[in-house]
Parts: sequence; C-alpha cells; structure tokens
Amino acid sequence: MQQPDELRLDRGLFPWGPDWMAGLFSKQAAVYAAARPAYPNDLFTKLAALTAHHCLAWDVGTGNGQAAIGVAEHYDSVLATDVSEDQLLHAAPHPKVWYLHTPDATPGEDLVATLGGEGSVDLITVAEAAHWFDLPAFYDVAHRVLRRPGGVIAVWGYNYRISPVEDMMTRFFNTTLPYWDPRARCCTDGYRDLPFPFVDIGLGREGEPASLDMEQEMSFEGLIGMLSSWSAVTTAKQQGVDLLGERVVKQLEEEWGGASLVRKVTFKAFLLAGTPRADD
Ligand SMILES: C[S@@+](CC[C@H](N)C(=O)[O-])C[C@H]1O[C@@H](n2cnc3c(N)ncnc32)[C@H](O)[C@@H]1O
Repeated sequence: MQQPDELRLDRGLFPWGPDWMAGLFSKQAAVYAAARPAYPNDLFTKLAALTAHHCLAWDVGTGNGQAAIGVAEHYDSVLATDVSEDQLLHAAPHPKVWYLHTPDATPGEDLVATLGGEGSVDLITVAEAAHWFDLPAFYDVAHRVLRRPGGVIAVWGYNYRISPVEDMMTRFFNTTLPYWDPRARCCTDGYRDLPFPFVDIGLGREGEPASLDMEQEMSFEGLIGMLSSWSAVTTAKQQGVDLLGERVVKQLEEEWGGASLVRKVTFKAFLLAGTPRADD
C-alpha cells in the first residue's frame, strides 16, 4: 500500500461544500483526541470472526483512529480515512494503520481505486460518523469495495445516554439542542432511522440496531473534555454562546459527585452490521 501523502484525493463524493464538515471537527481535534472513548476489544474480535479474510479493513470517518487501532489487531492493514486533516494530525500512529485525508468532495471512483478496487475490503467500520455521510454515495462505494462473499460492514454510534449519569447528561444535552446539525438527530435516536441496506448477520439491522454497552472509567476532567468535543458545543461557541461556562461546569461537578471523582460509566451505544446482498 502507498504512503498516505501519495494518496491525497481531491474531488467529489461528499457534497456539503468545501471543508464544511472538516471545519466542524477540525476546530476541536486536539480536545477530541483526548476526550473521546475507545471501543471495546470484544467488538473488534466479534467483527473479525465474521469476515472470511483478514487482509484489508477500511475505517471511514476515523477521527483520531479511535476504531482503526482496535481493528488493526485483527487485519493486515487498515486504511483510515477522514475529511478533516486536523483530526488525522491528532491520530494515534500504528504500524498497520494508514491515515488518509479524503476531502469532502472525493469521487467514489477514486476511493474504490485507493482501496484496491472492487471486492478488496474485508471489513468496513464507521464509528460515530455515519450520520454525517452522504449515505447513498457512501453505501455505493461500500458495496463495490466489500469482498464477496465474506465482507462485512459495521456502523455504530453513541450519544448522550451514559449510565449512571443519565439525568445530568439529559439536562446538559437539552441545552445543546438548538446547535445540533439536523443530521445528528439520527445519532440521538440511536440509529433507529439510519438506512442500512445490507444483509443481517445477527449484530443489529436496519430499524433494529443492536445494543452495545461500552464501559469506561471517566474523570470529571474527561467528562468536560468530551462535552467540549461535541459538535453542537463547537457550533454554539462559533455563535458566541459558551455552553460550558463556569456556572454550568460547577453544576455538572456537583451532579457528577466532585471534581476528583473517577466514575465507571457505560455508554449506551448502538450497532448495525451486515454483508452485501448477493444481487447488489
Ligand atoms: C464524531 S467523529 C468520529 C471519529 C471516530 N470515528 C470516533 O469513533 O471517535 C466523526 C468524524 O467523521 C468525519 N467525517 C464526517 N463526514 C465525513 C465523510 N463524509 N467522510 C469521511 N469522514 C467524515 C469527521 O471529520 C470526524 O472526524
């Protein structure tokens, strides 16, 4: 596989206008890298057991490689792509992960070629990102590059539902409501409305995502970092509104149980996985 710098792509698949999406996550890329959860190893083991081969995985909307690093334990190579160069600059290096910037407007043809052509990818993962995509265009590429038979796509997400601090999270989430991009609603709703045109393989399907509990140790500082990395909080800031002002942080601290408390929390995540239909 070529080096990432040789693989810069320049035009077409994602149509919301140049650099809009990249800007949304680029502004808080360093905070994002420090604050977002990693995913359970068990998830990657399960997914790897479902693919027939373990040569190439594609982690799309990789951010800082939160999922790519886990996937790399099971595949020879992982191509990890994102529209935000800043997110990639803060990505965790790994000898089997190749980070590649794919600007908003990368043509599907270029992506298919970069991934090695039709039928060359064993596993596609999309963690906490699918709701931002132009899904018909993305799924078209996914169908083309997945190996048949035996290729698998898994899409998952999490939102403000975190146990055992649900009430505190709901109160804070409600203050962010005016600032979410409409596409984020799909994530708030647990991907129940996310189109997913793939054959069910027993790990969540269109309209019925599987539950995925993700346990993490979280400090109060980690909580504030995670909330700061929400795109709605960034958008509010751009509009001159600080949703995490001193008074709010104090209130959150009280509800959390003190600034020095490290809690075991569970993200109530959701997952859809499938394989291409034979006739697609
Ligand atoms: C919420 S972050 C998730 C990052 C990482 N996968 C994780 O699990 O934390 C969403 C990521 O998707 C990227 N993104 C949004 N639209 C994209 C697209 N059309 N193609 C590739 N990446 C995209 C953003 O730049 C951002 O890094």
